[in-house]
Amino acid sequence: MKERVEVMISAEAIEKRLDELADEINRDFHGEPVEVVCVLKGGVVTMVELAKRLTMPVTLNFMEVSSYGNSTESSGHIKILRDLDEEITGKNVLLVEDIIDSGRTLSKLRKLLLQRGPKTFKICTLLDKPDRRVAEVPTEYIGFTIPDAFVVGYGMDYAQRYRNLNYIGEVHFDEN
Ligand code: IMP
Ligand code: MG
Repeated sequence: MKERVEVMISAEAIEKRLDELADEINRDFHGEPVEVVCVLKGGVVTMVELAKRLTMPVTLNFMEVSSYGNSTESSGHIKILRDLDEEITGKNVLLVEDIIDSGRTLSKLRKLLLQRGPKTFKICTLLDKPDRRVAEVPTEYIGFTIPDAFVVGYGMDYAQRYRNLNYIGEVHFDEN
């Protein structure tokens, strides 16, 4: 079975939406420093593109949690594969994700990070796929809300491929 990728959201549309989100974030933080936390690997492209548009003092930090492996279904558990290398206590944290699907990963991660006592904690996701949501995640900044499709590009993968696409593509699994 070979997959086929079709454009769902163009590079231009993503750039424009990131400009808008960054404007909103710049307004909301009133110039206060922000620790931008990326959930690896999927969040990395959005993090970098967003961070370039932020005007307050910004620091970057990374976490990696396990999710899909090579299938398209999220497991009920998350495992911290890589933790932050800085304390977030008393800081403004902006967590950047590629996509919220079931919400399991982010709802667990959110609880874990809130226990560390950040001054503020906000979430920015490039994509929201609400149809399969099983765990609620308060999300302040959403790029695009999309239907229940499996997507790749702009950081997101299928079997570790396609992360480098500058657009969001929908994956079709055709028989042939
Ligand atoms: P959740 O726990 O079901 O919300 O899934 C979280 C993670 O699964 C996301 O951060 C992505 O890394 C990955 N994921 C969810 N949907 C997709 C998709 O359509 N394409 C690629 N990765 C996805
Ligand atoms: Mg992710």
